[in-house]
Amino acid sequence: TNGKATNIVWHKSSVGKVHRQEVLQQKGCVIWITGLSGSGKSTLACALCQALYSRGKLAYILDGDNVRHGLNRDLSFKAEDRAENIRRIGEVAKLFADAGIICIASVLSPYRKDRDACRSLLPEGDFIEVFMNVPLQICEARDPKGLYKLARAGKINGFTGIDDPYEPPLNCELELPQKGNNCASPCEMAEIVISYLEEKGYLQ
Ligand code: PPS
Repeated sequence: TNGKATNIVWHKSSVGKVHRQEVLQQKGCVIWITGLSGSGKSTLACALCQALYSRGKLAYILDGDNVRHGLNRDLSFKAEDRAENIRRIGEVAKLFADAGIICIASVLSPYRKDRDACRSLLPEGDFIEVFMNVPLQICEARDPKGLYKLARAGKINGFTGIDDPYEPPLNCELELPQKGNNCASPCEMAEIVISYLEEKGYLQ
């Protein structure tokens, strides 16, 4: 059995996702924001959560940095730990979506296969991948936490973009900022995501 539990049977409740969605007047989904450190993932997540709240819609943010303070405090930044970090966030996001909540996951998630594994946990259409397409040069110039500087000085090993890879999405639902609009504010970018959600019927 490989140390794993056996003899477990799924228990069904009489209140399901459709009922919860009826209460909330929205459809649960996962908005997965990926991109380099300093690309604005958390800022977009907050702007989006605020914009949804203003419309009376319930969202919840799972931020990589924050989740690493609790649920994922046992994980490092080596590839297998990043994979486990993303797997757990993906599973938690799936539970939130099933609860009828719009779950915003802002996670660096540098590996395509880890993100695709999270996508495959959700029903078709319910995983909305948003790529913060900000060049390394700009993220490094921003350096909000001073981590790029430390990485360049050799004080952090395996820092994404410096001496660790980032695999950009090949088929994401949205890419921000949109081409030709490098000056878009977080609020403007949040509105683009909202329009997408409206168009796909997630806000009802
Ligand atoms: S991952 O790769 O998806 O597991 O990363 P995540 O949990 O989202 O955490 C990313 C943030 O952690 C800080 N940090 C690092 N990032 C990349 N590589 C290394 N080695 C590293 N060490 C610490 C960094 O501040 C990331 O910031 P943001 O901007 O939140 O992505």
